[in-house]
Amino acid sequence: MLEFNYKNIQQEVIGEENGLNISEEFANYASKIEQIITDLNQKKDKPGQWLQWMNLGYSEETVWYVKEYAAMVEGRFDNVLILGIGGSALGGAALCEALLKPYWNLLSVSDRGNYPRIFFLDNIDPDQMDALLNTLDLKRTLVNVITKSGSTAETMAQFMVIKDRLQQVLGDDYRKAIVATTDAEIGVLRQLSNEEGYKTFTVPDDVGGRFSVFSAVGLLPLALVGIDIDEIVEGIKNMDLILKNTDINKNIAAQNALIHYLMDKKKNKNLSVIMPYSSRLKYVADWYVQLWAESLGKEYDKNGNKVNNGITPIKALGVTDIHSQTQLYTEGPNDKLITFIRVDEFDTKLEIPKIYEYTGIGYLGGKTINELMSAEADSTMVALCDYKRPNVTVSIPKITPYYMGQLLYMYEVEAAIIGELYNIDAFNEPGVEQIKNYTYALMERVGYEDSAHHVKEIKEL
Ligand code: PA5
Repeated sequence: MLEFNYKNIQQEVIGEENGLNISEEFANYASKIEQIITDLNQKKDKPGQWLQWMNLGYSEETVWYVKEYAAMVEGRFDNVLILGIGGSALGGAALCEALLKPYWNLLSVSDRGNYPRIFFLDNIDPDQMDALLNTLDLKRTLVNVITKSGSTAETMAQFMVIKDRLQQVLGDDYRKAIVATTDAEIGVLRQLSNEEGYKTFTVPDDVGGRFSVFSAVGLLPLALVGIDIDEIVEGIKNMDLILKNTDINKNIAAQNALIHYLMDKKKNKNLSVIMPYSSRLKYVADWYVQLWAESLGKEYDKNGNKVNNGITPIKALGVTDIHSQTQLYTEGPNDKLITFIRVDEFDTKLEIPKIYEYTGIGYLGGKTINELMSAEADSTMVALCDYKRPNVTVSIPKITPYYMGQLLYMYEVEAAIIGELYNIDAFNEPGVEQIKNYTYALMERVGYEDSAHHVKEIKEL
């Protein structure tokens, strides 16, 4: 089971100036939290609430169709290429990095269990795109284009480039190399899929991009490379039961949400550092950054008051960033709440050979790399406490589909709860939409002429 340890945000550990009296705060906020969790669970089936992601763990139909398609194409492709950006890419990328064997794309076919390599193209760097397309054998590549709106300029531009190249090498058969994940009805990609006959999966209504990892958006890429999506779904369901608990003392998502909220409001810690001690969880930090930034960064609250709300998320990697960022976190401004994500048991136990016994590094011999990793995580935590820096730890027993489902779902629920504490809409992203619209305008999309005029005016100032 996932564990959450918040002892190091308490006044007893880091002092009154920076710490919280957490039992008092839990008592003060108990009824507010109870109300929030009750409301979220009551509203989740109502259209327009953007809470359908809370039902994804129970969507047996999606899992079935995803598995059916993955089985159908098994053995037909050497590569899977994912086109998408933001919420349409980050969840799948994070889970693939965590759950596939490290360096998956470099492994032999048999070491990959005959499953394909997987590439997430979530940028439009022309050098990178061209190089990748020249490297992959496009005759043996399945392209999964993912966009909820069906019109995001980056994803659709990628799609146009790749469709053209696929058609050149495959002729009319190019259609069989494309699978689209998009809205059920609206958007250009849905229209093209209908006209050109692509296999499609649906991003359900009322599921925003950053909450879509457990829809076909994330599940299809995972299933295509052989990850056990049934296990993921089991993890989500189990976590959902825990997170339905309206008692703050028993609900870890509510605890973590309240701690972040109070650290911001009462102790001026409005930077949230997420630091997994595992390279395989590196992209979970990227996923978290998007979830936190887009959900909580809002100009107005739900009552229309200008609040310019937000907690700035920062990604770090243990142990690498001990030697990069932790000097700042110990001695710089005390404005951060640091989250460690720790893995109790790695798949591998790696021994350090007993060599160089009579030198300054002799103490390492006979220990394991695992022990060193753990010692470094402990050291960072203790040093932060010495410097009165609040920190919490989320521990997962092992990196498995089950626990990864739990971890990501817990953070989604946490984002929803903290959004309610701030009284902001955690499910929209007007700032991003504005940038998307300006891009359409600059690229001369019909209907965006007024925006084009405005952008040109500002550019020329
Ligand atoms: O979380 C979000 O809603 C965004 O990050 C979107 O996922 C991102 O902008 C991509 O949008 P779309 O899936 O419509 O291409």
